Amino acid sequence: MQDYVSTGFSRKRPELVVTGPTPAAHGQAAPAASPALAGDLAGIAVQIASCVKCSLCSGRRTTVPGEGSQHPPVMFVGEGPGEEEDRTGRPFVGAAGQYLDKWIPSIGLQRGECFIANIVKCRPPRNREPRPEEISACLPYLQAQIQAVKPNTICCLGRIAAQALLQTTASVGSLRGKVHTWQGIPLVVTYHPSAVLRDPELRKPVWVDLKLLKTLFPPAGSKTPAS
Ligand code: URA
Ligand code: SF4
Repeated sequence: MQDYVSTGFSRKRPELVVTGPTPAAHGQAAPAASPALAGDLAGIAVQIASCVKCSLCSGRRTTVPGEGSQHPPVMFVGEGPGEEEDRTGRPFVGAAGQYLDKWIPSIGLQRGECFIANIVKCRPPRNREPRPEEISACLPYLQAQIQAVKPNTICCLGRIAAQALLQTTASVGSLRGKVHTWQGIPLVVTYHPSAVLRDPELRKPVWVDLKLLKTLFPPAGSKTPAS
């Protein structure tokens, strides 16, 4: 039984905006005094491209800001770029991404209708987990992206995304299956596609989580609240 009741769904037809790839700019000077993050996606991506706020900047080939619709029904948040993402500048294009691409139609959406981003925008060495100081350095970019695109819902893929956005140390197992909120936006936690590829037993709970997620945003073209 979900513990969240949404009011006032309204969603315009999504417009596809791809904000990545952006050129790696390690070694360039950071933009002069940029205390406030630009509100628009392209502006945020430009700031990310020259960011040297944490040590992950030194190993990246390309920054991976995220991509997708300007006002998506769902914003998926993963952990950080892997090798393929670091090469192309696009999120979730490797094995985990190809698997995520299979999840999205199950909630009635196409990939381009969603926004897909990560907690950290630069690839951690050998795909290790991002460290707490890297997560806190990078989180303002994701927060600005969420505020810019105003998704109807957020879906955290895995522990790193869930713990960073919900500011908790709880496990995915204890966070999944219910509706949380991030600044008033309904947020659902599920397992990371890579974890599910490793452990097929996680497929069933992911399916349950995606079904829950689907109840939280309006069907495409709908202007009236879902009941
Ligand atoms: N895993 C992630 O968490 N993000 C990506 O973009 C790719 C793999
Ligand atoms: Fe900047 Fe984030 Fe890249 Fe660290 S991971 S250098 S904070 S963009």
